[in-house]
Amino acid sequence: MRISKVVIPVAGWGTRSLPATKNLPKEMLPVFKKPGVQYIVEEAIEAGLKDVVFVTNQNKTIIEDHFDYNLALESVLERTGKHDLLKVAREVAEMVNIISVRQKQQLGLGHAVLCAREVIKNEPFALMVGDDLMFNADPGIRQLTRIAEAESMAVVGVMPVPEHKVSSYGVIQGEEIGPDMFRVRDLQEKPRSGEAASRLAMVGRYVMTPDVFEHLQDLSAGGPDNEIQLTEALRVMARNNRLLAVRVRGMRFDIGDWTDYLIANIYFGLQDEELRDDLVQRLHELVPPPSK
Ligand code: G1P
Repeated sequence: MRISKVVIPVAGWGTRSLPATKNLPKEMLPVFKKPGVQYIVEEAIEAGLKDVVFVTNQNKTIIEDHFDYNLALESVLERTGKHDLLKVAREVAEMVNIISVRQKQQLGLGHAVLCAREVIKNEPFALMVGDDLMFNADPGIRQLTRIAEAESMAVVGVMPVPEHKVSSYGVIQGEEIGPDMFRVRDLQEKPRSGEAASRLAMVGRYVMTPDVFEHLQDLSAGGPDNEIQLTEALRVMARNNRLLAVRVRGMRFDIGDWTDYLIANIYFGLQDEELRDDLVQRLHELVPPPSK
């Protein structure tokens, strides 16, 4: 099994990040110098995934534009001799192949995946959710594709979360069959605290086998938000004994959460040698250390 395509659903409303996302796609909110979605695409590229399928809608076209040439900007940078910046602008356009498909109705993550069916056809594929930024020398999605390719199975990426957070995630029930690897027996979508089978939550990284489309097709939209749940299709795969989970190693920021979003910005600011000292000093001024 060889994985070369990644599906990135970007058609959500981003209501958690209002009012910032009233007209700006949440995926374009900058995290330090880059829009969040660029980190996701870079993680995919580092994992050797060459084709990005955005599942998008009519308000999100600037996401595709970000990964294309901006000829007007380039000509200004060229004319004014700003060659370093010209290189930065061009690099983003040249990093990846973009394919986009429309999600014409907002019917949830499962529906977004189903919209990519005509592009993916009968191949296994990676799936990355734009809210979750992950950083590790061994890219998060690579930790999944490695296992998926070796075992010829669908894989979900999980991380442990505190008990009071389980209700924001899909969680797995399964047994550990190797280091950081689980056979998934069942899943629960957003269980109530106290009712979760585990604290291992799915964190926006998946490798899917194409049978997922058939399972999704059998589902109808439901629940309070009238959505087709990806988790319901994953449950069928788990019951057929065709689903693994990998505990993903690395740092994760949920940029739909304001605290995580701000910390992600500070984290990248601190990596920048030119800004670091000034930033540390300014942070100390804002939050003086407690007096002894
Ligand atoms: C979706 C999935 C959920 C998963 C989460 C990860 O939920 O339904 O299983 O844990 O993504 O980001 P959402 O955050 O879209 O409500």
